[in-house]
Amino acid sequence: MKVLVTTALFVLTGAARAEVLLSEDQIQQTLPFGPWPPSFQSDPSNRVSNDTRAIALGAALFNDPVLSVDGAFSCASCHDPEQAFTTFEARALGRVLLDRNSPSLRNLAGLRWYGWGGKSDSLWAASLHPIIEEQEMAHSKESLKTAISESSYIDEFEAMFGDIQTQDPELVLVNTAKTLSAYLETLATDRTQFDDFRDALERRDLAMAANYPEPAQRGLQLFLGRGKCVLCHNGPRFSNNEFHDAGVPYFLSETEVDEGRFGGLNFLLSSAYTLDSDWSDDPDKQGAWVVRSVRRSHSDFGTFRTPSLRGVAETAPYMHDGSLIDLEAVIRHYSEIDTERLHVDGEAILSELNLTEQEVADLAAFLVTLSKAP
Ligand code: HEC
Ligand code: HEC
Repeated sequence: MKVLVTTALFVLTGAARAEVLLSEDQIQQTLPFGPWPPSFQSDPSNRVSNDTRAIALGAALFNDPVLSVDGAFSCASCHDPEQAFTTFEARALGRVLLDRNSPSLRNLAGLRWYGWGGKSDSLWAASLHPIIEEQEMAHSKESLKTAISESSYIDEFEAMFGDIQTQDPELVLVNTAKTLSAYLETLATDRTQFDDFRDALERRDLAMAANYPEPAQRGLQLFLGRGKCVLCHNGPRFSNNEFHDAGVPYFLSETEVDEGRFGGLNFLLSSAYTLDSDWSDDPDKQGAWVVRSVRRSHSDFGTFRTPSLRGVAETAPYMHDGSLIDLEAVIRHYSEIDTERLHVDGEAILSELNLTEQEVADLAAFLVTLSKAP
């Protein structure tokens, strides 16, 4: 068969003509979404980071109700490994119905903030809080020490951390959290259709890039362009990992609000488990300048951490309160956003997009390729 190339950007694949729709500028804007996976760097604040024994122990503990005071929950109850480390529930069900959606725990290694409101500045602190939180695992430091001592994990635990009986219960708590963190660091989403596209663009292999479906390409163009999504969802994780008001109502009842980042900072600034504390194993206290210098302000009210969009098709429902049932609902939310409700001073990025049905479908098609195997 004779192959006709009308311009450099057009190629023939079988019968259908596929093409790269992106302009040179858009190609340049697409490259920073990779490469994927990112290179792994162990966490200097966690001395068992990247330690195979800790990873194995952390994985076992994660799935074991021994981490809750009465055996009622394991971490996996809300972060189910069979369901992309979340559940289908809108809001997590602990000892009461919690205010927020359980985030998927993938791609968390090396972030600056954890939690929807950023109440932790390390992955081990974010793994520690649920163990002692009253509405979640509800252990005390003492009851956790007893539970670990009497569990089948005691040999592995002591092989890494020494005789448990000589350890302060608080140290047992922190060490337990550090094994969980070592495990969570290993959870990453796989390469996707999008990554093959992005890498082909980088290699200038336009024939290969043209295999990426056109609706997804048009969706990406919207994501970069009129939708302005890239202003917050950027980098290889599709998140700036900062806090914004994306127009999701933050009233819990007529009198109560979810304070979002404001509450997260209140928590962080009084927490004993920050990168600036002695519980960090890093003698240089890298990253601790952030918690030392961070300040609360009124504009932090009702802002939430920008979620990663990798693997997003597997983690419905969406938003901090799980209020949007599928990706189409999220896109319609942005399309019809009520700018009157964007309460944060200066949050001038979002505006009503008034997307057509075709555009909604295109954006959804693009988002789905961030989860689809190539
Ligand atoms: C009752 C349900 C529930 C249980 C049990 C639970 N979590 Fe969570 N988890 C949540 C919710 C809800 C959030 C979001 C909390 C927030 O924004 O403050 C969360 C957030 C997290 C985060 C931060 C994720 C991110 O994207 O920043 C980590 C890490 C985490 N949990 C680990 C664990 C570990 C480890 C355990 C077991 C010790 C555990 N969780 C048990 C519901 C749960
Ligand atoms: C101003 C920053 C900002 C912009 C611009 C933005 N987002 Fe978001 N996005 C966020 C934040 C913050 C959240 C979480 C909001 C919440 O839970 O209250 C979010 C949530 C999401 C979610 C849900 C993810 C999850 O796991 O729950 C999706 C999907 C999403 N955004 C896609 C988009 C798309 C598509 C666009 C462009 C039309 C866009 N975003 C524009 C900041 C932004």
